[in-house]
Amino acid sequence: MPLDGPHSRSFDGSLAYRERATRVLARGVSSSPRASQRPVAVLQERASGCTVVDADGNSYTDYALGYGPLLLGHSPVPVLDAVRTELDRGLRTGGVTAGEAELAERIARCVPSGEVSTFLSSGTEAVQLALRIARAGTGRTRIVKFRGHYHGWTDSMHVANSPGSDALTTDGQDPLASANVICLEWGDLEGLQAVLDDTVAAIITEAAAINAGCFEPEAGFLEGLREATRANGSLLIFDEVITGFRLGLGGAQQRYGVFPDLTVLGKVLGGGLPLSAVTGPRTAMHPVVSGAVLHRGTYNGNPLSVAAGNACLDLLERHAEELYPRMEALGAALAAGIRESAERHGKPFAVNHVGTCLQFFVSERPITRLTDLIGLDKDRILEFSEQLVRRGVITLPRGLMYLSTEHTDADIEATISAFDDALSSLAN
Ligand SMILES: Cc1ncc(COP(=O)(O)O)c(C=O)c1O
Repeated sequence: MPLDGPHSRSFDGSLAYRERATRVLARGVSSSPRASQRPVAVLQERASGCTVVDADGNSYTDYALGYGPLLLGHSPVPVLDAVRTELDRGLRTGGVTAGEAELAERIARCVPSGEVSTFLSSGTEAVQLALRIARAGTGRTRIVKFRGHYHGWTDSMHVANSPGSDALTTDGQDPLASANVICLEWGDLEGLQAVLDDTVAAIITEAAAINAGCFEPEAGFLEGLREATRANGSLLIFDEVITGFRLGLGGAQQRYGVFPDLTVLGKVLGGGLPLSAVTGPRTAMHPVVSGAVLHRGTYNGNPLSVAAGNACLDLLERHAEELYPRMEALGAALAAGIRESAERHGKPFAVNHVGTCLQFFVSERPITRLTDLIGLDKDRILEFSEQLVRRGVITLPRGLMYLSTEHTDADIEATISAFDDALSSLAN
């Protein structure tokens, strides 16, 4: 389907909604990043496949995909059917339902290190539980994290979210909560050796640095983390909230062949409904298996999310061999097409790409390491995302894009055209 031209779109419905919502709803949205979409956070009326239609009748090819969970797009029939069937059995929120063990069995089959699991609702909560398990299991308190990696918004983890900075991220954070968090550059094994001692409970990392801008780990780095944590008696935690079931059925750990003690899952796990998990070998999970670490939450493992997760993973398990290579090929074609267009127009643009995740930057210099991002003008990415919205393409406003099973060759072609058109009018 040809995409609309940049000037044929009206956003009046979304703008009117924003005016109404901001009177009673903080910033008119339910999660801060949504407010950064320009020209306005589009009011989504309905969606199917990888297409979103807004309140003004504008249609978009969606690469935000709910900030990542919607690997099967917005309307996967088996997931929707499973949720409807589950609804007909009554809500049973907070009760024990059989889907939970079924889903934990699926995780054990798919995720190489996922022997025993616990369920929660958000990635943020699951990271918090993983840190508790690590502290309880080792009797130590300090945690190592890497600059530019995002592990949710708790006071302790919402630090060093920008490359080159160890700062707290938001007003209102308790600075003492992160007093036991050591921040390092990703890839810096020497720096790591200098801080590893018998006070370090765990190292937490995104196994591929998707949030910072889609960086693969340098050769040997994850292996180095694995070796160093073993030698030091610390746990290795992979935050696979994005990469779990997205970079393959076994996530980043399967892709890179390095197996952590604890894995945090979220997003795709719930098939589009709120669900997260901590999983790991029984020995690493012992503190929560034994009950020494409390694991609480009214909505943990709620039946609707678990049903959606089971249906989603069932489909992925049955069709993994066909679906993942196809999505990865589309991701590679999209990245190559955008790079080619930027080069042809001579524009300051860079694209990083890891499997089904892609990040674009408006940048004069290549962005190959996280430290290349220091000083980058993020506003230019927000502006470029707006140009894409005006041409019928939704990305995360900060330039991150996700592929789904629903994107087709024709979508990729049309999206490259939209980039090409936006790039042709981008200032040098
Ligand atoms: C790697 C990673 N960890 C944790 C989280 C937090 O997950 P949630 O937003 O479900 O709390 C996110 C969210 O984007 C994430 O990308």
